[in-house]
Amino acid sequence: MRRFSSRVLQARPPLLSARAPLLPLFRSLRAPTKTIRPPSPFSYSPTRFCSYRMCRSRRDGPSGSTNTPSREVLPTNVKPVHYDLTLEPNFDNFTYDGTVVIDLQVAEDTNFVSLNSHEIDIHSAVVSAKGSVIESKPEISLNKDEQTATIKFSQALAAGSDAQLKLTFTGTLNDQMAGFYRSSYQQNGETKYIASSQMEPTDARRAFPCFDEPALKAKFTVTLVADKSMTCLGNMDVASETDVQGGAKKAVKFNTSPLMSTYLVAFIVGHLNHIETTNFRVPIRVYATPDQDIEHGRFSLELAAKTLAFYEKAFDSEFPLPKMDMVAVPDFSAGAMENWGLITYRIVDVLLDEKTSGASRKERIAETVQHELAHQWFGNLVTMDFWDGLWLNEGFATWMSWYSCNAFYPEWKVWQTYVIDSLQGALSLDSLRSSHPIEVPVQRADDINQIFDAISYSKGSSVLRMISKYLGEDVFLQGIRNYLRKHAYGNTQTGDLWAALADVSGKPVQTVMDIWTKNVGFPVISVTENAASSSIQLKQNRFLRTGDVRPEEDTTLYPVILGLRTKEGVNEGVMLTEREKEFQVPDLDFYKLNADHSSIYRTSYTPERLKKLGEAAKEGHLTVEDRAGMIADSGALAASGYQRTSGLLSLVQGLDAESEFVVWNEMLTRIGTLRAAWMFEDGQTKDALKAFHRSLVSAKAHELGWEFSENDGHVLQQFKALMFGSAGSAGDPVIVKAAQDMFERFAAGDIAAIHPNIRGSVFNIVLKNGGAKEYDIVLGRFRSAPTSDEKTTALRCLGVAEDPALIQRTLNLALSDEVKNQDIYMPLGGLGRHPEGIKARWAWMQSNWDTLDKSLSAALSILSAVVQLTTASFSSDAQLKEVQDFFATKDTKGFDRALSQSQDAIRAKINWLQRDRADVETWLSNNRYLQSKL
Ligand code: BES
Ligand code: ZN
Repeated sequence: MRRFSSRVLQARPPLLSARAPLLPLFRSLRAPTKTIRPPSPFSYSPTRFCSYRMCRSRRDGPSGSTNTPSREVLPTNVKPVHYDLTLEPNFDNFTYDGTVVIDLQVAEDTNFVSLNSHEIDIHSAVVSAKGSVIESKPEISLNKDEQTATIKFSQALAAGSDAQLKLTFTGTLNDQMAGFYRSSYQQNGETKYIASSQMEPTDARRAFPCFDEPALKAKFTVTLVADKSMTCLGNMDVASETDVQGGAKKAVKFNTSPLMSTYLVAFIVGHLNHIETTNFRVPIRVYATPDQDIEHGRFSLELAAKTLAFYEKAFDSEFPLPKMDMVAVPDFSAGAMENWGLITYRIVDVLLDEKTSGASRKERIAETVQHELAHQWFGNLVTMDFWDGLWLNEGFATWMSWYSCNAFYPEWKVWQTYVIDSLQGALSLDSLRSSHPIEVPVQRADDINQIFDAISYSKGSSVLRMISKYLGEDVFLQGIRNYLRKHAYGNTQTGDLWAALADVSGKPVQTVMDIWTKNVGFPVISVTENAASSSIQLKQNRFLRTGDVRPEEDTTLYPVILGLRTKEGVNEGVMLTEREKEFQVPDLDFYKLNADHSSIYRTSYTPERLKKLGEAAKEGHLTVEDRAGMIADSGALAASGYQRTSGLLSLVQGLDAESEFVVWNEMLTRIGTLRAAWMFEDGQTKDALKAFHRSLVSAKAHELGWEFSENDGHVLQQFKALMFGSAGSAGDPVIVKAAQDMFERFAAGDIAAIHPNIRGSVFNIVLKNGGAKEYDIVLGRFRSAPTSDEKTTALRCLGVAEDPALIQRTLNLALSDEVKNQDIYMPLGGLGRHPEGIKARWAWMQSNWDTLDKSLSAALSILSAVVQLTTASFSSDAQLKEVQDFFATKDTKGFDRALSQSQDAIRAKINWLQRDRADVETWLSNNRYLQSKL
């Protein structure tokens, strides 16, 4: 499964990962340009009417919620119950005409309706009540900053009555991957378009005027008007198709949806091919544009059929819609989106060519499909009350996708991977001062996108993994079933989930879990031993990567489920709830905390104990999760000053007989993180680190080999690929030569000479050791490869070339028309492998800031990724200052979290280098990787 993208903050060198991050690193929304607030049109409202401000304040803070009084929400004077929406896209001028009729329930006597609208031209409004028009030309005022339109009329609507608001409008089929937008593909040398939508979190208001908040659920009846040759898709199945405009076009009307949130509405119009399966109770289809081979949708299609059946059983709840469509969209800002009954995907995350893609791509697709399908219940049927509860959606879909992946593909051993992937992603981001609690107050639309991060996804799912293990998976799932039944078609807060789990288990779930979701951070537990009493003394403190926790930041006492492993097995019941406590251990000869790393904490052992654990690992007393997690802890503790880096190096050096992929993966991640932090250090030390890296991996890489056979299991394939890529990046001459030979055959036309599992590694190796000739061949493959996966693999590698002229070509390519905005971060990634690339990338970012800021103005998630990528590789005070100086004069709203996380990551490296520069040098000399400098 995919390592969550924020781990890039640790500068994970992509060579080491068979699954380099694909997704935008941070997702955030363009901050609306600040406008001066127009004077309120309601200052003269009779007091018996609900005034705008009064209504707003009443909506704030439903009882027991974590929201804040300043949350920007709509007034509660009316409530939408049904939308009748008609849209007609125009592909000649990239606009669409729309009409929406919204049925409203009037909650309070009122003479206005406020709803969300953003960058939409509203032409007319008509307000009706009891079937007759009460105002045909009401006053319409817009508030750009709050993204609202307010319709004010002279006749009041009475509390308890029904009303109707009809609006006509024109919108833009924009190229920003937000709202109702255009997406392009090439066919016979021509650029063709489809219209598609992306509403989450707050872009439904960009597509049509609506009450754009998750708790304002309504039913939707959508009609799309389009060319007869085009396919029209909506959340629901087609109710009718009729000729309109004298037979020139068709109007496709969809059946009315169940109650749902606006962010889940979707529609697509364009020339699309599809395949269908009937292996589930309702039909499932995969759609793609004609430039794609639709048969590549087969894997996702059949997996979806199996997964929906599995979820219906697991949740004891029928999928309530009449069909499920899954669409590969050529331009897509995220990886996939769970629109109810109409899931949209980035092409690479749904279409799979088993012949030309590797094992990690297949795993990523399985994860994505299962994640979005889990949302059909968790998110779509039961929805968070407001965005503060986003983690309920994303944390759960993440947990569920691993759970179901494990059920379908037990041989993939995904829960082992979880420990080095999601868990480390969570701990990594959450070790920064600029992290945030899982339940985070969000006030404005601009804040929301930024919390689609490793905290909501990975810490959220880690919290669920922890509680599911504590209660037992069966009890946990029974609680989930009860929760879904109780809140179907409704909205919830985190407390509702804990209540359901408490009910079913009889345990005080809320008291324990509240601390985890409402507080930032996690603890490091320091262990001291008392041989005389055969006990260990445990002390918890907040863990920060910068290693500089202040007392006021260390006040939370986390309820830590210890998971104490001893010779007698795992004691599941013990918890540390206080700052410090002593625990008995049957035999101090062997014990380990955090069995299987099911809990959210790191453990700091004494160097002697760590050594013993290293031996225990070799002797087979520890599980794969234990070994991988222990290395992860050791790496993180070294980087933050709780342990010495030399200790990490010795630990890793002693584990070269390790036999498991996941453990190796973590070792190489930690060595990669170290090498990345030392990126700007002197050449001798860097060469010595590289030599150590090489000596660590070469034997294993040679033993495994780089031939792939039909009989290789899924994990073995990834293991071979990991070791080959790692040894190649460390300069192993045999592997470099092997890569060059494969590449030569490939360049001569034998595409199959490079196995898909190692395609990226081979490109990286030849680019690192070659020049313009190799560059042009890889670039050519980016341009001509038949699948999106192959193209983007090539695109990600180009930056590895170190020649200054090639660095410039990579940077120019990033902004050219050849690279879609959705992929702009890919060529930038490779440049992070070498100091010259990192420096040139930063200079490029600064000189192109205005262009980047403008072209990614609605896809700020991608701009965040660019900001993060171009800054987080630095490691000195002077570089940090450059970053700060540059952004000091910029409007950073919408990506400010990414920026401060990047700065924290740099600070952590500055401290690490200062602390352990000499320690690492000494270790390298003592171990003969470095000639003593004396
Ligand atoms: N709901 C998200 C898509 C999304 C992300 C919408 C950010 C708006 C802003 C979807 O369910 C999701 O989480 N997609 C992931 C893929 C998944 C496999 C982790 C993504 O796009 O990264
Ligand atoms: Zn999701």
